[in-house]
Amino acid sequence: MSGTSLDGVDAALVDLSQDTPRLVASHYQPYAEPLKEALLALHQVAHNELHQSHLIANRLAREYADATQALLRKADVPAAHVQAIGCHGQTVRHRPEHGYTVQLNNGALLAELSGIHVVGDFRSRDIAAGGQGAPLVPAFHDRVLRHPNIHRVIINIGGIANLTDLAPNKTTTGFDSGPGNLLMDAWISRHQGKSYDKDGAWAANGKVIPALLQRLSTEPFLAAAPPKSTGRDLFNMDWLERHLTGNETPADVQATLLALTGDSIAAAVQCFCAGTREIYLCGGGAHNAALVAHLRQALPQRLIQKTEELGIAADWMEAIAFAWLAQQAMHLRPGNLPAVTGARHPCVLGAIYPA
Ligand SMILES: Nc1ncnc2c1ncn2[C@@H]1O[C@H](COP(=O)(O)OP(=O)(O)O)[C@@H](O)[C@H]1O
Ligand SMILES: [Mg+2]
Repeated sequence: MSGTSLDGVDAALVDLSQDTPRLVASHYQPYAEPLKEALLALHQVAHNELHQSHLIANRLAREYADATQALLRKADVPAAHVQAIGCHGQTVRHRPEHGYTVQLNNGALLAELSGIHVVGDFRSRDIAAGGQGAPLVPAFHDRVLRHPNIHRVIINIGGIANLTDLAPNKTTTGFDSGPGNLLMDAWISRHQGKSYDKDGAWAANGKVIPALLQRLSTEPFLAAAPPKSTGRDLFNMDWLERHLTGNETPADVQATLLALTGDSIAAAVQCFCAGTREIYLCGGGAHNAALVAHLRQALPQRLIQKTEELGIAADWMEAIAFAWLAQQAMHLRPGNLPAVTGARHPCVLGAIYPA
């Protein structure tokens, strides 16, 4: 898995032979700064971007192949024992309203380098069926984290935040609530050259600017009813700058971005997941202590914990989910939940590149 944060590759070796997935081994491979910058640049309209995107897709495939090799070495498992690699690729455009989404990767090259079947391009089929193509992890949450009589909500805080609502006796729903880490990451990168605000410490040093928070919160996406999904196409530095006066103290902007993230997640829980008492966090944002404290304050009387409590490591949830989605594809079983994505019907997701 390589998500919107553009931090790197999460490689998980998963045993899916039983009902409960078992994480056999894991390997995190951060992107070198030049690759991250090249990916960020590709989010903008640029000269010869078609050529550039294919070169970067090749670079990513090599990155994924290296991560696979390191993972299998750690686990001491030969490639021949692996059924398939589910590889999300790196999103550079997400435009379901125009009928497409782009996750860069070269599945053929990854299959060639790894000698393992590769499943990629998980999102396009759902969009072809009229859906958002996102979020896809709720189907996995539905499969493994549902409780027969406890109303649970799973919140994945990656670059973008997405929620899964697991209400007993109800169809599972899910959607992107808005920004996760990506605005905070971009702001601290600009001002301190750091890739993220560890534990939200810098944000905790600033003071929320109410007028700015108010302006940012008027973004129509945040109040829109699901199904909905978003990405860097909307939430990016240009978007933020349009709302700044230029006189703000940087730490105060960071505090405000943390509040925006926390408030938009909390509002999504209140509006669309009413009645939940148990919230489980996953994704890198689950480590942001200041953000978690903000959520606890905004959502009192709910138990807020990490998904470790349910037996799945918060850092590996999404990678495990894409292993499961790859298994679904290899068996030609559907991977989407139409109630989540808005697709007209369940679909087998992904393109298969045989080894
Ligand atoms: N200790 C931490 N404190 C604050 N933020 C963190 C911490 N650890 C990870 N993160 C955040 O998590 C992000 C990576 O999360 P991840 O789940 O990989 O997102 P994505 O799926 O978008 O790649 C980092 O960019 C960072 O913002
Ligand atoms: Mg990541």
